[in-house]
Amino acid sequence: MGDNVIPLVDQRLASTVPTVPADPGPPSGLLADRRGRPLRDLRISVTDRCNFRCSYCMPKEVFDGQYRFLPQSALLSFEEITRTARLFVAHGVAKLRLTGGEPLLRRHLERLVEQLAALRTPTGESLDITLTTNGSLLERKAQALRDAGLRRVTVSLDALDDATFRRMNDVDFPVADVLRGIEAAQRAGLAPIKINMVVKRGTNDDQIVPLARHVREHFGPGVVLRFIEYMDVGATNGWRMDEVLPAREVVRRLDAAFGLQPLQPAAPGETAERWRYADGGGEIGVIGSVTQAFCGDCNRARLSTEGQLYLCLFASRGHDLRALLRGTAPDGRPYSDAQVAAAIGLVWAGREDRYSELRGGAQAAPASGERRVEMHYIGG
Ligand code: GTP
Ligand code: 5AD
Ligand code: SF4
Ligand code: SF4
Repeated sequence: MGDNVIPLVDQRLASTVPTVPADPGPPSGLLADRRGRPLRDLRISVTDRCNFRCSYCMPKEVFDGQYRFLPQSALLSFEEITRTARLFVAHGVAKLRLTGGEPLLRRHLERLVEQLAALRTPTGESLDITLTTNGSLLERKAQALRDAGLRRVTVSLDALDDATFRRMNDVDFPVADVLRGIEAAQRAGLAPIKINMVVKRGTNDDQIVPLARHVREHFGPGVVLRFIEYMDVGATNGWRMDEVLPAREVVRRLDAAFGLQPLQPAAPGETAERWRYADGGGEIGVIGSVTQAFCGDCNRARLSTEGQLYLCLFASRGHDLRALLRGTAPDGRPYSDAQVAAAIGLVWAGREDRYSELRGGAQAAPASGERRVEMHYIGG
């Protein structure tokens, strides 16, 4: 084991079963947490497995042959996921993101997409449904996902240079296959396509300008490339501040190469700061979660593969919704939708999380004996 890697103790059990109120009223869609933040975005992890081993997410030394991934019986079924998503939608969620691990490893994922695409908001609108993928299986699956009702997709891609890409995914996966996956997504009509590049100073920051040039020239303005600051998420990636390349610096380099102009945010609570190429060649985004925290209007909740609700990417404790989905009320009957929805509402109403704003301070540290959740387990 490399000496910058902390061994992973299985802390996935740190969780609380939510309280079910005695006389639940219907969700109002006006839910707010303790900082007045609404709930709009639910990210659903459908598997904790991945065929890549990116060192910033699932370092090989930890996630090796000995690592115990979740057994099939622990995973929420598609029906359980859809029921839960429907209850979140009643609370005001309008955007669903499927993540992993690598979500395309979950068998028949398009069936889940189909079920989720049938959901409607309280005012009858369809949802913004998207998926984050490493792109390795996208060429094969893009059309089936589109046919099932997926609207758009986000592909993680950390380098254009094949050797750098193979090093970063750490399983020697060729970049050409991912590029073909993006083309297949374009052909299938998934739009907009976003590409997320996590930037590590000294590892792939020399790829910023080449990747931007490639996206402009080969994919065109319909594909939005976004640069993400490398974060201290989880407990296994050996994060160091000197490997973070600030979003400001990314903008400076792209401005020098192509010329950039600022764009207004498209929606409140957005992660990315948006810029457009001065020559009309499309837009880019920078996600500066380390140097420019955006907790102030964070409206995102995360559902783990086994049905734990996490209120922050940096949380060390989940809220066990699966216990309600599979358990019974004191009267011996399964919990009703109204009961589970009310329990979710209480959890969100108590939320105070703002890790990125507190980063480094004593308040940001996990409670003693607890560890922060890993990103492959709750998704990005
Ligand atoms: P769009 O709706 O397509 O704009 O997606 P998004 O930017 O809301 O979500 P995406 O999953 O593409 O986010 C990109 C990256 O931003 C993630 O992989 C994380 O690295 C980071 N990120 C997303 N949400 C959060 C968050 O709530 N907190 C922090 N600190 N980082 C986040
Ligand atoms: N820092 C920033 N982003 C991360 N991701 C995973 N680990 C990290 C990290 N340490 C995000 C990336 C990747 C997605 C699956 O999760 O955006 O594309
Ligand atoms: Fe897999 Fe994405 Fe994590 Fe890389 S960042 S190991 S592709 S889940
Ligand atoms: Fe939201 Fe937590 Fe990210 Fe802040 S650190 S933006 S509260 S998920």
